[in-house]
Amino acid sequence: MDEKLQQIKSSLQEEYQKITSLEQLNDWKVKYLGKKGLITEVSSMMRDIPNEQKKEVGQKIQEVKNIYQQLYDEKQEALEDEVLNIKLANDAIDITLDGVKLKPLTGAHMIEKVIEDLEGLFISMGYTVEEGPEVEKDLYNFEMLNLPKGHPARDAQDTFYIDKDEILLRSQTSPVQVRTMLKNKEKEPIRIICPGKTYRRDDDDATHSHQFTQMEGLVIDKEISLADLKGTFDVVAKHLFGSDRLTRFRPSFYPFTEPSVELDISCFNCGMKGCSICKGTGWITVGGAGIVHPNVLKSSGYDPDKVSGFAFGFGIERLTMLKYGITDIRVLYTNDLRSNSQFSRRDV
Ligand code: DAH
Repeated sequence: MDEKLQQIKSSLQEEYQKITSLEQLNDWKVKYLGKKGLITEVSSMMRDIPNEQKKEVGQKIQEVKNIYQQLYDEKQEALEDEVLNIKLANDAIDITLDGVKLKPLTGAHMIEKVIEDLEGLFISMGYTVEEGPEVEKDLYNFEMLNLPKGHPARDAQDTFYIDKDEILLRSQTSPVQVRTMLKNKEKEPIRIICPGKTYRRDDDDATHSHQFTQMEGLVIDKEISLADLKGTFDVVAKHLFGSDRLTRFRPSFYPFTEPSVELDISCFNCGMKGCSICKGTGWITVGGAGIVHPNVLKSSGYDPDKVSGFAFGFGIERLTMLKYGITDIRVLYTNDLRSNSQFSRRDV
């Protein structure tokens, strides 16, 4: 037995020296410790060893096993390192090569760009940005804005009703005025804008869309006058269309403002000589505005004898089309990525 173990020990050490690959290491393992391996075979002979010798023989077998295991572990590690190093050397990445440029899926939408631009401007003037629901109550969209049921001015806003006469898709962002005043509970000042989607039952064509975008504005404070509105509108016009823009008010009618005005800017295209953009007038209308009607203040909990305010509503598609020279509003709604991808999100 002793002799056999000695033989095994020296042959496994000798063969070990010749191992140069993981495959050879595996063969070596099978030869000595496989099912019919040499060490396995000797171990199975333990059965026939008299009891009093079992301990001693067992220790000797274990000794050989230990030597084997140590050699095996060392070789395995060395060979695996070697394989890894070869792989690393072959797979080396050339970091000096140009990477593949990923094309952004799309850029910012032009409407979004105009909204974010205006938000930045108004925030810099102390305004906050409010939101309101697109599915709105008739109460806020019309009634509390001084447009009771049956009022003829409702016809101008052909509305999508959802639930009988009470729930609708907002036809303007003006209901956010009411919501904001109710939320502020008689406190002033209020200085908000609210950009958002609005809906009317229009047939879509080059200048109409059943879904469009407005930006509402509301300022409530002591002694607010049309002069404040004019100054604010002036800043917006110059910011969007250049510092030499002029602005003017044209008398108008909105049930929720008194007096009411149309907001016009001097044509940036022809220097007011008259062109197709300003339809020969030298002026371009971009929204409506006015001094908040006392009825609206009252219904929203404010005392018209103590505070006053101005409100405005810009047509965002109109501003966007003017700014980017778009002649068909459908360009903004047909999701052609070629129009969006001209603008990087970073430009917003
Ligand atoms: N809501 C109006 C519309 O959709 C626009 C408007 C006009 C808003 C005058 C206002 C305002 O806040 O004061 O035509």
